[in-house]
Amino acid sequence: MTEHDEFRELIQQAKAHAEYYQMLGITHIGSSAVAQDASLRPTPSAPVTEIPKPIAPAVIIPKVPMPAELSIALFDEAPAAPNANETLEDIRRDLGECQRCKLWSTRTNIVFGEGNAQAQLMFVGEGPGADEDASGRPFIGRAGQLLTKMIEAIEIKREDVYIANVVKSRPPNNRAPEADEIKACRPFLWRQIAVIKPKLIVTLGNPATQLLLETKIGISQLRGTLQDYARTPGIKVIPTFHPAYLLRSPDKKREAWEDLKKVRAFLRGELE
Ligand code: URA
Repeated sequence: MTEHDEFRELIQQAKAHAEYYQMLGITHIGSSAVAQDASLRPTPSAPVTEIPKPIAPAVIIPKVPMPAELSIALFDEAPAAPNANETLEDIRRDLGECQRCKLWSTRTNIVFGEGNAQAQLMFVGEGPGADEDASGRPFIGRAGQLLTKMIEAIEIKREDVYIANVVKSRPPNNRAPEADEIKACRPFLWRQIAVIKPKLIVTLGNPATQLLLETKIGISQLRGTLQDYARTPGIKVIPTFHPAYLLRSPDKKREAWEDLKKVRAFLRGELE
């Protein structure tokens, strides 16, 4: 039997299963499967019986590898190795007027990121706030002004770094981005990083740190440590507190300053 025949057989079996379930009036498969036809539901007096299983041969999983483009389209993920020959403009064009997650319906502007496309240092925040949403630029509100001061404190100009976020549309009421929103947006951040190829990324707060280090460990444990960016060898990460958190907890600024001194030392080749 050729792979094509196997695939056709699989489709026919799936169709037979679907028709069987439809006949039973079942619209959901899983723990909450409910027979729509009342005669198929157990009555209080009747013993609870299982919904009969369709008599059909076991499903054969064809040995046909899923084409790469299809798996990317299905799971909305970037290619395993992002194309470093593309440009930031290509990535922005691909993003378009994005509707890949629900955030599109409440945002005003996409906040793609800005700065030096050849930056050695990149900052990654969480997601746009109200000012960023209104302007389309990252980190320009109160937290952004503090970030600018943090960058200048290590004798670097804001225009020499690149600044981006985990999600590019504002989460309503500045809530943390949700897992499905991060999943839809992260390929674009990965691609931005692959193109910019910074020496060092400073992750600001939990979502950026956990995404780029592919970990569930929290910022309090990871801040100030020199880590490897999980996707590209040679790119380092230093996590620190998010400036919005520093505005709420000014006593943490001292620790953030320690982290920033490590950033400066790393860029000067004084920290391996
Ligand atoms: N907070 C973020 O995480 N990103 C911004 O762009 C602004 C505030």
